[in-house]
Amino acid sequence: MPKPFYITTAIDYTNGAPHIGHAYEKVLADVIARYHRLKGDEVFFLTGVDQHGQKVQQSAEKVGLPPQQFVDEITAKFIALWEKLEVRYDGWAATTDPLHKKCVQGILQRLYDEEQIYKDKQEGYYSVRQEQFLTDKERGSDGEFGPQWGEIEHRTEENYYFRLAQHREWLLGYLQSERGRDCVTPHFRQVELVNAVEKLSGDLCISRPKSRLSWGIELPFDRDYVNYVWFDALTNYISFAGYDPTISSFILQPSSFQNKWPALHVIGKDILIPAHGIYWPIMLHALGFPDEQMPKLLVHGWWNISGAKMSKSLGNVVDPDSLADKYGAEALRYYLMSDIVSGKDADFSEERLVERHNSDLANSLGNLLNRTLNMVQRYRGGGLTRVSPERTSADVTSGYTELVRRFEAALPTHESNRAIEAVIENVSFFNGFIDANAPWALAKSSAPSDQARLTEVLYDCTESIRIFAILISPVLPAAAEGIFDQLNWKMALAGREERFSLGEVKWGQLPDGHVVGKPMPLFPRIERDPA
Ligand code: MSP
Repeated sequence: MPKPFYITTAIDYTNGAPHIGHAYEKVLADVIARYHRLKGDEVFFLTGVDQHGQKVQQSAEKVGLPPQQFVDEITAKFIALWEKLEVRYDGWAATTDPLHKKCVQGILQRLYDEEQIYKDKQEGYYSVRQEQFLTDKERGSDGEFGPQWGEIEHRTEENYYFRLAQHREWLLGYLQSERGRDCVTPHFRQVELVNAVEKLSGDLCISRPKSRLSWGIELPFDRDYVNYVWFDALTNYISFAGYDPTISSFILQPSSFQNKWPALHVIGKDILIPAHGIYWPIMLHALGFPDEQMPKLLVHGWWNISGAKMSKSLGNVVDPDSLADKYGAEALRYYLMSDIVSGKDADFSEERLVERHNSDLANSLGNLLNRTLNMVQRYRGGGLTRVSPERTSADVTSGYTELVRRFEAALPTHESNRAIEAVIENVSFFNGFIDANAPWALAKSSAPSDQARLTEVLYDCTESIRIFAILISPVLPAAAEGIFDQLNWKMALAGREERFSLGEVKWGQLPDGHVVGKPMPLFPRIERDPA
């Protein structure tokens, strides 16, 4: 059985509406999943929502709704947004799903039986307002706890702890092994992770007494407690892939699970340390996952607003739903994938969104499509004469070779911005190629060599557009279909099942005598309202 490519995103908190950061991550994972489908890989793409925890409980109380109803309503918003943004996933991870709860409880029970989880007393300063114990890290420069913590009392509370510290040496060793050294992309994040693990001390509190928090998964061995969020949330990556918590040996796990695992987790930089870089591998290790079955992490940067973090209190949260309504889902996808350097932060700007759409899509790709089809219609009645790859001019061939090389180089590190750049630069080359060859002048000439050159130019341009459509299809699935419709490159005519595949990115696939369709504007320019 071929192994599917298993990709996940973080599961989003459901204590508020989706924002642009959520949208970026889901589109990024969707684009990677689509590239893999294009390669012919089977894909299992899991995304979903993180529905438990303090914040949700508080937000639900504020609006007077039972927490389940509250998260159901917000979850519906996420689902509708992913549909609108063409995010095509194969599995939906919602942490209130009974299947997930059962798996989390099974894991907790096993780790408890194996003494990886123990009960202990916590004593210290407690902020009633923030409902958390405070450590010295929370003290201000004057040594006092600031007013944001409200009333502070001395408390003693019993909780359950997961033996994190016991696995520190293992994790350090793993991160220095061949697999561990490149388990995080970009590499500088792996270095940060190693530094953090070196400083690791203490175990992880994984419970909250029900008197403090009731909206969570009950501990199977003590019904007075619920599981604290990260343990619950991280488990989604295996619970929804068919992991059986009652089986401790990895190789005895159901084959449907083993076949998917390990995953590539797409996450933001804020949840690498400690959650995905420390808790998660240690949880998996404690559960008996061998080192070669540790997941890989793709860590992306953040979208900021004029250099500042988006936040509800600053009132600068960008709503992807209304942006998609205003500019179209694909203009938004294109912007999010092209205007950020993989792994780095970027500034979100509506103006840039419009600029990128107008320059790259309307003026460049859209223009190439439009003028090419117009000329094929006008000068050749829509019919193409194939030029075999061996006779294709050297500038076209070398441009094509360079495009494929750059595109393929961007894939292993999932740098969608570089893949897009390679395509758009080659699009510009072809717009320049048309200007340099002046087909309108060739059309006026009756010299057979000019007519032959015109035939060639038209074929080269049309063939390049077919290839651009395939390469850009993970980012712009609907526009790519639209290009193929205009090229009249229908399934039946292509005579192949899969017109959209990397195998079809071979020069010279449009057959002799192929008749193209009529041009229609695919990326109308966006005119900005005068401010
Ligand atoms: N629920 C946890 C994740 C649990 S995964 C087992 C969580 N949720 S979140 O809603 O706060 O964030 C979800 C994802 O969105 C995270 O990967 C986070 O990094 C990402 N982003 C949140 N804000 C972002 C930006 N402003 N920009 C880009 N991505 C950001 O953390």
